Order: sequence, then C-alpha cells, then structure tokens
Amino acid sequence: MQEKIIILDFGSQYTQLIARRVRELNTYCEIKPYNKFPHEDKGIIGVILSGSPYSVNDPEALQCDLSQIRGRYPLLGICYGAQYLAHTNGGKVASNGSREYGKAELVWHDDSDPLMHGVSDNSVVWMSHGDSITHTPESFVNVGSTADVKNAAYRIDGELTWGVQFHPEVYHSQDGKIVLSNFVTEICHSRQDWTPASFIESTVNELRAKLGDDKVVLALSGGVDSTVAAVLLNKAIGKNLTCIFVDNGLLRYKEFESVLANYADMGLNVLGIDARDHFYEALKGVTEPEKKRKVIGKGFIDIFDREAHKLKDIKWLAQGTIYPDVIESLSITGMVIKSHHNVGGLPEKMNLKLVEPLRLLFKDEVRRVGRELGITPQLIGRHPFPGPGLGVRILGEVTPEKVRILQEADHFFIQGLIDNNLYDQVWQAGAILLPIRSVGVMGDERTYENVIALRAVNSTDGMTATWSHLPFDFLGSVSNEIINKVRGVNRVVYDISSKPPSTIEWE
Ligand code: XMP
Repeated sequence: MQEKIIILDFGSQYTQLIARRVRELNTYCEIKPYNKFPHEDKGIIGVILSGSPYSVNDPEALQCDLSQIRGRYPLLGICYGAQYLAHTNGGKVASNGSREYGKAELVWHDDSDPLMHGVSDNSVVWMSHGDSITHTPESFVNVGSTADVKNAAYRIDGELTWGVQFHPEVYHSQDGKIVLSNFVTEICHSRQDWTPASFIESTVNELRAKLGDDKVVLALSGGVDSTVAAVLLNKAIGKNLTCIFVDNGLLRYKEFESVLANYADMGLNVLGIDARDHFYEALKGVTEPEKKRKVIGKGFIDIFDREAHKLKDIKWLAQGTIYPDVIESLSITGMVIKSHHNVGGLPEKMNLKLVEPLRLLFKDEVRRVGRELGITPQLIGRHPFPGPGLGVRILGEVTPEKVRILQEADHFFIQGLIDNNLYDQVWQAGAILLPIRSVGVMGDERTYENVIALRAVNSTDGMTATWSHLPFDFLGSVSNEIINKVRGVNRVVYDISSKPPSTIEWE
C-alpha cells in the first residue's frame, strides 16, 4: 500500500514547499484542505498542519477536528499548526506577544528529542509570525526557544505530536531539512520508497485497473507534461491510447516534423494533424492579443474535437495536468477558483471522462519520471512554450509570411543557445516579431524591413523572471546570423525587461 503523509492546508504560502520537502525524502504526501482529512485512507503514516494567514484568535480562524488525528498518527504542527494545537488545548496564543520575521537562532533544550537529532545548537531558523504561544498546557514539553520566543518548539507528552513555531520547510532554516527528515523517517517511519520507478509502477497498475479496455485520447503539445502523460498511458494501455498532435501553424521551425518523429520513436500512437490553414484563416484580421488567444484556443478545441470524433468508442480524455495546477484550482475551502489551462472546456464539450496521471506530481518530479521512462534529455529539458505558440510572439496580425520570418529567426537564436551551451542556463528564450519596420542598409541598398526582438529570462516558475545576461559576443553573432540569413529582417534588439513589471511573452 502507498504510504503517505497528509498535509492539512490552513492557507500558508509555504504549504506547497512542505510537500516538496517531504517528497524530496522519497516519501509520498498529499495536501488536503484543513477540514478535509481523508479518514478512510489506510496508508497514512503521519500528518502535518501548515501555517496560515489567520491568527488562531481571529473569529474567522480556520478550525479542524483533530480528535481523530491526534494520538492516532504522528503529528507535526508548523507555525499556525503549532499555535492551533496549543490554543485548542488550553494554551494561550497572544497576538500582542513577540513577533518575529526572518532569521532567529534556536536553542534546543532536549538533545534526546527525536525531532532534533543531528540539529546543531543555535541553529538558524526562519520565523514568520505575528502571534506567539505565551502559555502552554501542562502536557506540552518545551524543547526549543529563540531569544524572543520561549515556546519555539514543543512536544506533547505521551503522544507523537510536535509543534514548531519556525518554518523548517524554507531554505533559510539551516537545519530545517533535518527536522523534517527526523519527523518523516524517525517518527513516522517512512519506508522512503517513493521514487520515480515506484511511481511509474503504481501508476501504470492504477491506470490499467481504471481504464480496462477503454479507449483514451490525449492532446500532445510537444512539451514535457503531455509527453510524460502519454508515455505512461502507453505503458499501461498501449494502442488503446491515441494521441493527437495539431500543427496550428504557430509551432517552432520544423517542430511538427521533429516532434512527430520523436513520438514515433517512443512507440506512441500519434495522429499528426496539419491544421495550419484553419488557424491562419481564423486569425485573419485579428490583432488584439486576448482575441488572438481566444481564436487560437477555440481553433484547437474545434480541431481536436473534430479529429477525436473520427475515432471510435473513445471514453476518456487524458491530460497532462500537474500538481500546481490542481492546488491552484482549489481554494482552502475546496472550491474551484481557476479552471485548467489550455484545454479547459474540452471534457464537458466532448462528454468524456477525464484521466490525469500526473495530477499529483510537481514539475521537477514529472521530469524525473520522464527520465526514468527513457524520454530523451532534449525533450525533458525543453524550455516552456506557450499554448498559443508563436501567435503571441507575432505582434499584431498573424500571417504565414510573418510566421516564416519568426520561425527562422527563432531557430537561429535557439540553435545558437544550444551550440554555445547557454540553452540550459536560461529558463525560457524566444524571438518576437515586432509590428514595425526600420531603415537599414545592405550592400549599397537602402532597406526598410522587420525588427526582431530576442527575449531570454531566468526564472524558477515563470511567476517572476529576470532578463538573462547573455554574453554580448553571443548576442552579436546571433544578430548577424539572423540579419544575414532571414529574408525580411534588418534589425535585432534584445529585451532587457524583468517580470514584473514586464511579462515574459510580449502579448
Ligand atoms: P507571461 O507572459 O505571463 O508568461 O509572463 C509566463 C509563462 O507562461 C507562459 N504562457 C503561456 N502558457 N498558455 C500557456 O500554456 C498561454 O496562454 C500562455 N501565456 C504565457 C509563458 O510562455 C511563460 O512561460
């Protein structure tokens, strides 16, 4: 049975980070809304209570029933979680007590406490709290303090319950990893057997049981998530999976052909649909960015729907949805607040059941699973590419000729990054075709042609980004190559804007 740790989410910005740290310990975990503990689940080996933007003293503070959890599973309360445990047991949490934001030094009082094994004294920990526990019930044993907060860490006598005021999950907590590791391995006794290989084995078995002989259709994008989802499903149900890869005319240079060839090598059953004309027709005269996205999104749904209907007896639609999308879709009260990205609306329209084999994985875990499945490093390490493709990098109206110019310019940029070992040093890169012309001179002739902007950014999740400091010599040679080889371009500029305030894509 799959062992797991349940993280009850009280709305902290760090909840996802706790999950990542636990998974880094090769231990599977799931984040659940604070009041949705999965009591029927048999594999639970421990529970973590997250932090929260609320104070336990707020009238609207989030409450959960711990009576079925405490004493039954090892329990670790972090920040609000620790305060909540104290508050609901007759302790006192004072909103006017000591506040601490940032680094503090923790002094341990009990070296034999299993949560603290291997943690250095005066270890730097990260604090972020306005409240503090000023009085603990009798059964609470104080095991650590900082200069300002006496009850910075405690355990409850007679049970496997701990509370820590600091955030062991954040990078700045020097020995935070050790504290979490102690909880997961020494207290919850995790077998630490959650690995890409074990994920693949259990997921393939689950998919077989769930899908039986049913037929499944999946939209491939050429990106990591949909590819890994497809390879997993292929392993589970083979030819009952049909993948559809649509050429919307907005892919990169020769991408349709090369990605299709790659998929064929992987043994996937893929239909490549050339729908370029459909998209170019629909995009005629469309200049407004949001309208463009809508037209491209609708074009995709129409083509996919049309092609999927030609297939017989399809029962399921597979998607490469990953964990951050799922978590973002749930508020802590369990309400859907944001629908899934590029194929939103498809399952309802097509009346298909949804299967999402990656819905519990983080992006880096998807990559690890992909590697384990034997997918090529080039594909696993590909930069993100937006669903609407070059459509949002051709400013103004999209025409086949503009697509040709941008594909070629982008190709020289990306190939240059690869050839100079810079590709993996930037998070995302691409060329943009600007809706202006400028004067130039080539040979003895005056030219009046297009301007290409190059964009390369460093980021971890695309939410914020800084422009990449690519070497000037490299930028110079790419600029030369583009101007010399791409017909219709006589000027190249480099985008030196960070996000915020500028977005990564120009439209
Ligand atoms: P922005 O431009 O918002 O982009 O800074 C952040 C990241 O999201 C990608 N992006 C998209 N991805 N569909 C997608 O699948 C879209 O409509 C879309 N718009 C932006 C962008 O490439 C970057 O990685």
